[in-house]
Amino acid sequence: MPEGTSFEELAKAVDDAAAAVAQLHGAPRRAADDLRTAIEAAHRAALVTIVRRLRADEAGRALLFELVDDPMVRLLFSLHGIIRPDPATAARAALEEIRPGLRGHGGDVELVRIEEGTAYVALSGACNGCSMASVTMRNSVEEALLRAVPAISSVEVVPSEPGPALIPLSAVRRREDTPEELASHGWVHAVPAAQVRDGKVTALKLTQPDGRPAPVIVVRIGDGLAAFDDECAHQSLPLGSALVDAEAGTLTCPWHGFCYDARTGECLSAPGATLEQRPLRVIAGDVWVQVVT
Ligand code: FES
Repeated sequence: MPEGTSFEELAKAVDDAAAAVAQLHGAPRRAADDLRTAIEAAHRAALVTIVRRLRADEAGRALLFELVDDPMVRLLFSLHGIIRPDPATAARAALEEIRPGLRGHGGDVELVRIEEGTAYVALSGACNGCSMASVTMRNSVEEALLRAVPAISSVEVVPSEPGPALIPLSAVRRREDTPEELASHGWVHAVPAAQVRDGKVTALKLTQPDGRPAPVIVVRIGDGLAAFDDECAHQSLPLGSALVDAEAGTLTCPWHGFCYDARTGECLSAPGATLEQRPLRVIAGDVWVQVVT
């Protein structure tokens, strides 16, 4: 494409090429997919190196702040997982994925807001009834959001017609999460919730179902709990002695002072850096963490 091509034109060219590849079948399709995967892997490796080098330098960090404001750079970093979309964007993308299925059954869903780890959704059409089909659709909304957005730990339905303020999805779900069911989806029992001290970091040496170690930290600020991989985004050092500022809602790495949002893991010191958040649930007074996603 010629230099100076606009963001919209570039995005359209990507969409058009992806649509053309989607029409291919058999060996040509596999070759196209392999080519795309190889090019993306090479680009990602180079971008990660560039971002790491910039982050390591004060002037470089300032430059990164400027760069991520550019829509093309932001798109590129997002595509390569170098910066994560904010929870609302990620939630809307997750709902977009299941929307065709919901519409196919005459239902629909909209994200209203996310607050304190709870996603509030409005349901319409066939999603908004008492039939088994509507309950199944609500379950798929909840599962899509919990799976795709670690910052969301619960989902509630805002009635689209006047009525009681909020209906917890749990009130219409009858499916119990058994330990076996949870384990089969990569969840492990972490710690009794009562043992997670407020305003502190609780470091846990968890184990994946296949026996590999899964060290995580659990952070509590008031009623809010969040789990992250026990490694700082700066130099991957452990965060067990990180400092929590409950008032500011931050977590500060003890090694070189990177400061993070304690609920989402977004780094406030370096743009694009983030802690790897793990989905967390409290079930019957125990904290469960999904160590395999
Ligand atoms: S390891 Fe350097 S700030 Fe955390």
